[in-house]
Amino acid sequence: MPPFGPPGELIDSRTRIAVVFGGRSSEHGVSCLTAADVIAALDPLRYDVIPIGIAPDGRWVLESSDLDRFRITEGQLPQVDASGTGIALRASAAGELVVNEPDDVPRTLGQVDVVFPVLHGPWGEDGTLQGLLEMADVRYVGAGVLASAIGMDKEFMKTALTAAGLPQLPYAVVRPREWEHDAATVRETVTALGYPVFVKPARGGSSLGISRVDSADQLDDAIDLAREYDPKVVVEAGAIGARELECGVLEGVGGGAPESSVLGEIRLVDDSPHLFYDFEAKYVDGSAVLDAPAHVSDEVSERLRGWAVTAFEAIGAEGLARVDFFLLGGDTMVVNEINTMPGFTPTSMFPRVWAATGLDYAALVDRLVTAALERRTGLR
Ligand SMILES: Nc1ncnc2c1ncn2[C@@H]1O[C@H](COP(=O)(O)OP(=O)(O)O)[C@@H](O)[C@H]1O
Ligand SMILES: [Mg+2]
Repeated sequence: MPPFGPPGELIDSRTRIAVVFGGRSSEHGVSCLTAADVIAALDPLRYDVIPIGIAPDGRWVLESSDLDRFRITEGQLPQVDASGTGIALRASAAGELVVNEPDDVPRTLGQVDVVFPVLHGPWGEDGTLQGLLEMADVRYVGAGVLASAIGMDKEFMKTALTAAGLPQLPYAVVRPREWEHDAATVRETVTALGYPVFVKPARGGSSLGISRVDSADQLDDAIDLAREYDPKVVVEAGAIGARELECGVLEGVGGGAPESSVLGEIRLVDDSPHLFYDFEAKYVDGSAVLDAPAHVSDEVSERLRGWAVTAFEAIGAEGLARVDFFLLGGDTMVVNEINTMPGFTPTSMFPRVWAATGLDYAALVDRLVTAALERRTGLR
């Protein structure tokens, strides 16, 4: 809606928000689930929502606001369907979103006030979409280009967190060239870490492509599996029997310091068929239990909440992040990772820890959008 309507017409003063979801990464379905919940939480009296789906093949689709079909049905995650309706969408330098529909007629969506990229994984959570929005001078929810890229890449995330003094598990990076030309050295390096190890795609998420490897004879298969998601792989010493604790962080209000939530804990139920918190346990069969707040001592809670804020600042995050930890035996703790667009359905850990801290789902979504609207575009 233009800012000035014809005489007598009501001016729509609602905030125009484009919610972008789906995407080209393997976390497409998880993003669709979240988008349905985020859109449902946006007050229609205050927000004019433009839902934009990105199909797995990269085509953009203008969706209707009825996102009821974006639910898990019969164990299947939802998907954006671009068949026949694909549009090319670009952000113009004037801060407008422009669509070319199949008949190639460009149509501008007009000036959006803010974009909420509800996207996980590469081409969404990794700074690429953020770069497009920066080029167009459009405000958006969450971390900027560099923080998104660092948070997505487990190699550079570890480097940034180490520089900030945060303890982590021993690890090795397996680059494509090394694996393809000198696998023997890679196997030696991994053996030096000591089995079991965890093998992960460097820029993955939702546990996809991750394996626990208990002995050398399983290593090659695990690396090959991880490489189906990302040619760069990270191998980490296994924290066996560790507790998994997670903390939400929000950008401070009015330029204040970032705020941390109470901690949450993920536990696999006793009869869970899973060796760790893998994709199925996370989203499909519900064999993981989330405790929020986690049952830990005040010392552990305070220390990890402090580390969560340090991690947020170490990568230069904005908006939101979830920082995950392992509590090893005794009170030894390490950081596992930071996520700049954490899972965000009402039953996901990030909203759960904020609810336990006193911010309910709708208030959380509202705070994220408000922070994005208040921040200036360009270099910050
Ligand atoms: N080094 C490790 N030791 C023990 N468990 C691990 C380790 N790394 C990962 N895991 C298990 O795998 C899950 C996913 O790993 P994570 O590094 O968080 O990847 P993602 O980015 O896909 O969430 C963790 O939640 C944990 O259950
Ligand atoms: Mg994780």
